[in-house]
Amino acid sequence: MSLATVILAAGLGTRMKSDKAKVLHAVAGRPMIEYPVGMARALGSSRVICVLGHQADAVRAAVETRFGAGSIEVAIQAEQRGTGHAVLMTEELLGNHDGLVLILYGDTPLLSQQVLERLVQGASSTTLTMMTARLPDPRGYGRVVRDGSGKFVRIVEEKDATPEQKRIDEINAGIYCGPARFFFDVLRSVGSNNAQGEIYLTDVMERAARELTVVTISAGADEVMGCNDRLDVAKADRVIRLRLAEALMRAGVAVRDPERLYVEPGIEVGRDTALGPGVELRGKVKIGANCIIEQGAVITDCTLGDRVHVKPYCVLSESTVANNAQIGPWCHIRPGSVIEDDVHLGNFVETKKTRMGRGAKANHLTYLGDADVGSKVNVGCGTITCNYDGYVKSKTVIGDGAFIGSDTQLVAPVTVGAGAVTAAGTTVYKDVPPGALALTRPEMAVVEGWAERKRQKMLGLTPAKKPKKKVVKAKPKRRRG
Ligand code: UD1
Ligand code: CA
Repeated sequence: MSLATVILAAGLGTRMKSDKAKVLHAVAGRPMIEYPVGMARALGSSRVICVLGHQADAVRAAVETRFGAGSIEVAIQAEQRGTGHAVLMTEELLGNHDGLVLILYGDTPLLSQQVLERLVQGASSTTLTMMTARLPDPRGYGRVVRDGSGKFVRIVEEKDATPEQKRIDEINAGIYCGPARFFFDVLRSVGSNNAQGEIYLTDVMERAARELTVVTISAGADEVMGCNDRLDVAKADRVIRLRLAEALMRAGVAVRDPERLYVEPGIEVGRDTALGPGVELRGKVKIGANCIIEQGAVITDCTLGDRVHVKPYCVLSESTVANNAQIGPWCHIRPGSVIEDDVHLGNFVETKKTRMGRGAKANHLTYLGDADVGSKVNVGCGTITCNYDGYVKSKTVIGDGAFIGSDTQLVAPVTVGAGAVTAAGTTVYKDVPPGALALTRPEMAVVEGWAERKRQKMLGLTPAKKPKKKVVKAKPKRRRG
């Protein structure tokens, strides 16, 4: 039978105490709503219908950002009058659907695909399946009422339950699968005569128990949790991160401290790569084999090759890093950086929209923005590209094998030719031909004995005597290693 999925996500989620709709809150870096939509697609659902109310446009936009325009259909529930009422809102779209409907919640991100597959496979035109779980603390959930023989009878909401029913530890996860037509037939006829004055979706199961067959599918306690407040979100976030860390370890990745690895679904990491504590991998990240990613590295939307070493506390965004590169510690690779094979970038080096050619080095205290740096270039400590004049960004080109002396300022647009040298402290504001030396340096004065005399004077050791000044002009040094 063909399968359609309905995802209930109209609520604001008052307990989040937030201006943002509940299903837009992130769990393991992804808005919660992505999880059920992703599941529906993984299960081969031909249609995915989200019931939205609060911030419907923002929720739809979040889904379409991930899964593409038109990936879901939307039914609007302007007023939240209960889970059953929410499903009724999809009748216009699904009234003629002759197959099964799977009902998921927007705020239940921990469900595994296996348990949902069992739920869908168990359903038919005459059988409804519903997911249950046994919880040590069932408070807040609907309880599963069974008869003396253990047969499912109905679900009682916490607010409608007797003290005896409240002691039942088997809860309704709120996830069901069954013939679409049956859901609509029942929901059209049930009222809202209950403690909350809502149309309860659970009433469908009570009717099904009498008229058709109900099969319960039990899920693990850690799968059915709904995220109602920020504590739940943190719990779910941790569960998903640990699952992802476990999957990485099973695939041959060394994870130093799984509790402190912050990864999102879809992150790819190669064999024998080691991830240190506090590493955060966000968005679309692909890391090759045999890499070392040390403590506190935050990598967003990047591709790293093999044997890359990212030392502690580096931030890399929207960039690529090729094989054998060494980055950090405390290095900032900003969007549009292309770091080629064997490049070394050391502490307090920042790159932006910059290519570092094969084997190039910038080991200390450097800013390279809008630059094209050739292979084997050595960028000395304290080098700065002056890429912005307050109006436009300009480009700096450095040819292969050039040597940029410490504290060089490259005033863009400017080109330093291949194999050229800039002396320490040079302000390069004109192009430097290949193989040339560029040098801007005022002459240095040396006043012999000056420092010692000053010291004596300041410490009151000798009366200030005025010796004759002797100035020696020093030739600028030609080259520094
Ligand atoms: C529901 C079940 C309860 C079950 C629990 C599991 C009913 C009557 N009760 O509880 O047995 O244990 O789920 O979490 O079904 N929603 C709408 N529109 C509405 C109401 C809800 O879209 O009018 C959405 C919410 O945004 C949320 C989901 O449905 O994503 C569940 O709503 P929630 O209020 O958390 O469920 P309960 O009614 O408390
Ligand atoms: Ca409710």
